[in-house]
Amino acid sequence: MPIDILQLCPLMPSLEAELASRYTVHRWFEADDQPAFLKENAANIRGAVTGGHVGIANALADVLPNLEIVAINGVGFDKVDLERARKHGIRVSNTPDVLTADVADLAIGLIIAQARQMALADAHVRTGDWPKAELGLGTRVSGRRTGIFGLGRIGKAIARRLEGFDAEIAYCGRVRQDVPYGYCATLEELARNCDVLIIAAAASAKTYHAVNAGVIDALGPKGVLVNVARGSLVDEKALVTALREGRLGGAALDVFENEPHAPEELFAMKNVVFAPHIGSATHETRKAMADLVLANLAAHFEGETLPTPVV
Ligand code: DGY
Repeated sequence: MPIDILQLCPLMPSLEAELASRYTVHRWFEADDQPAFLKENAANIRGAVTGGHVGIANALADVLPNLEIVAINGVGFDKVDLERARKHGIRVSNTPDVLTADVADLAIGLIIAQARQMALADAHVRTGDWPKAELGLGTRVSGRRTGIFGLGRIGKAIARRLEGFDAEIAYCGRVRQDVPYGYCATLEELARNCDVLIIAAAASAKTYHAVNAGVIDALGPKGVLVNVARGSLVDEKALVTALREGRLGGAALDVFENEPHAPEELFAMKNVVFAPHIGSATHETRKAMADLVLANLAAHFEGETLPTPVV
């Protein structure tokens, strides 16, 4: 009997092809008439594949009576109700580790792009402005005081890279015994004592809007906020207001509260750089993530231990 899988978002083509060769895949995000789809297929669905930023809504999980596993193509599991999954005996897997290096690389790239005006510099050459006008000066990257909120796998990988930039590194969040960095008990204290604040903590009810107006003011008019975690960790309204009023020096953002949208008020600001949630978006990493998604599904349906379980 073929196993029915619900696909909740677009995935890389090779993963979609592999899934289709192993399972009966239903593309939920393309279903024109979702109620009719559910009426016909809900009872058959045994697995769901989704993105970390998409997860699965309880309202949908509630109408899939035979759902056994949610395989997340991503490390974040904030969009899956783990409590509910435990209660209903639904297994959840994610793709940790394989994307750590890429997300850390992107954080460094964003810091440099913001400080050295890379997007503006690129446009300056392409538009033919170079012979007509000076671009203006950026800010030195090396030796900056850098704060990291969340020194987990990704936070640590960012810190290791920053050591190469002679950065003075401090962090807050869970205390780590195995790191040579300064510790701040609160995010506000960390922000007060750094030039660049990098958000690398997991999203949860506890970290929702952790970067609030107080933290942004502590970072101040010379400070830069970098977010490679989740948009929900930052109070975006407070961020926009602070940038508009010149109370924050700049921002480099890969994630947003209302994806796939970034706040339009920031588009004209030269001290802000954007990326469209591409932390893990390299061929190498997406292939490794795809392999983990397939391995978790296969292990589950063959009755084996999941390689990377969350629940
Ligand atoms: C992740 O892996 O959680 C990424 O942010 C994609 O959702």
